[in-house]
Amino acid sequence: RRMSSTKRGAFVVIEGLDKSGKSTQASLLHDRLQGSQDAGDTAPPKVVLLKFPDRTTAIGKMIDAYLRSESDLDDHAIHLLFSANRWELASTIMAYLTQGTTVLADRYAFSGIAFTARKGLSYEWCRAPEVGLPAPDLTLFLNISPEVAAARGGYGLERYEREDVQTGVRQVFDKIGRAVQDEGEGKWVEIDAGKNKEEVAEDLWRAIEPLVTGVHGPINKLWE
Ligand code: TMP
Ligand code: MG
Repeated sequence: RRMSSTKRGAFVVIEGLDKSGKSTQASLLHDRLQGSQDAGDTAPPKVVLLKFPDRTTAIGKMIDAYLRSESDLDDHAIHLLFSANRWELASTIMAYLTQGTTVLADRYAFSGIAFTARKGLSYEWCRAPEVGLPAPDLTLFLNISPEVAAARGGYGLERYEREDVQTGVRQVFDKIGRAVQDEGEGKWVEIDAGKNKEEVAEDLWRAIEPLVTGVHGPINKLWE
């Protein structure tokens, strides 16, 4: 109906520090992509929005308890839970893409690596469980300095919502962005998230628009 049968949906990931505006922008993008498709339409959805961690699953509930400091876990164990939380959605992502649905993800494997490597675990070890996941066609990194993020209504009470943590995480994100570009693992586009909400939304839209009618080619596997 709206795309040729040779196209599949695009997989677009939004990454960034806490308080960079990711969730707000992801939901604006979702609404804009969904456009006029009405509720009674039986065609596959044009777009779905996934959120990682997905706190609704059994694994997600363990992650949620950890983030709210209701439980303590070894750094390796929580890392693997975050990764498992992506793997439990991997076949769902593949199915959406195959049927032509655009998949938007609010955070993905890159957050997984950045938040754990910041703790001192090796980059390679952190990356290993993410290898083979469906690879994004495009990653939009909402770039904001930790100081500006902190000034923006402040951080909440969750485990990583501290300026020193965010500063370390951002350094790993920079390394990941370069690696993704160099290794040809899809596109990594940095968006200035210090601008106002409407401007950021426009910049994101410009980056994603070429992909919204679908993309050609197989669904790649991350780092494989
Ligand atoms: P959220 O605020 O987007 O729900 O994410 C919760 C926290 O979990 C956030 O500080 C980032 C962190 N995180 C990881 O440490 N590893 C991961 O794999 C993901 C997806 C998030
Ligand atoms: Mg948060």
